[in-house]
Amino acid sequence: MSASQTPPRIRVAGLTKTFGEVTALAGVDLEVGENEFVSIVGASGCGKSTLLSLIAGLEDPSSGTLEAAGVPITGPGRDRGVVFQQATLMPWLTVQQNVEFALRGEPGLSRLDRADRAREFIGLVGLAGFERAHPAQLSGGMQQRAALARSLSYGPDVLLMDEPFGALDALTRRTMQELLLDVWEQHRLTVLLVTHDIDEAVVTSDRVVVMSPRPGRVQRIVDVPIARPRTLASERTPEFRELSDEILALIHAGSPAE
Ligand SMILES: Nc1ncnc2c1ncn2[C@@H]1O[C@H](COP(=O)(O)OP(=O)(O)O)[C@@H](O)[C@H]1O
Ligand SMILES: [Mg+2]
Repeated sequence: MSASQTPPRIRVAGLTKTFGEVTALAGVDLEVGENEFVSIVGASGCGKSTLLSLIAGLEDPSSGTLEAAGVPITGPGRDRGVVFQQATLMPWLTVQQNVEFALRGEPGLSRLDRADRAREFIGLVGLAGFERAHPAQLSGGMQQRAALARSLSYGPDVLLMDEPFGALDALTRRTMQELLLDVWEQHRLTVLLVTHDIDEAVVTSDRVVVMSPRPGRVQRIVDVPIARPRTLASERTPEFRELSDEILALIHAGSPAE
């Protein structure tokens, strides 16, 4: 197969999702390429989390197409790792055990391999030394690091993140954004990040998807042609501020006047 025929890593077409009377998504089309970093922004309730859950395979569409690398999405899969706003670690397990638990289903991994693999990813997210800590002993940022280690440990092609840093203070959020960009650059993952922080979307992404208010549709896709690696300094450039303002204006323009 030539490169031009390779199906996109994620393809969503004509996607509609209703919950009873509520139409959460109405005809969403989106393609995300291999190794692309794409953010999704939009007013609260516009269907961002619903879209991510559908791609994760945690919900079924009402109609439309969902594919990962050309294969229909029918449920959760190890090709797609998920990180939510609240780290969903198991409180009775240590950090090490939480990651090992996620690796149970991995074919060809012995108990020792699992332990090694878990330690490797705990180190990667900067938690070396905390293997034996329980989630309650960790700060919010550290819990999100552990959740990230767990999702990365089984080598997903796509990382689906729903406001993963939304509950963290500004400084911790910044550190986590840098960690995420490092991981993305080293592992060449595809990332789909839902965020309400427009600067976070711009500093991390190749493209920012702006959704219209409910029922959610793709209102506009904004390219971010800012050179990488991006740093704090990139955010102070006029180019960055212009893109960020443009996205904010799009969200405001799409929202009904209050
Ligand atoms: N499980 C559900 N049952 C009923 N309504 C839901 C459910 N999940 C989401 N919704 C509704 O769908 C709409 C989109 O929600 P959501 O995807 O959470 O938006 P966002 O993440 O953009 O804030 C909202 O009106 C929400 O109330
Ligand atoms: Mg949400």
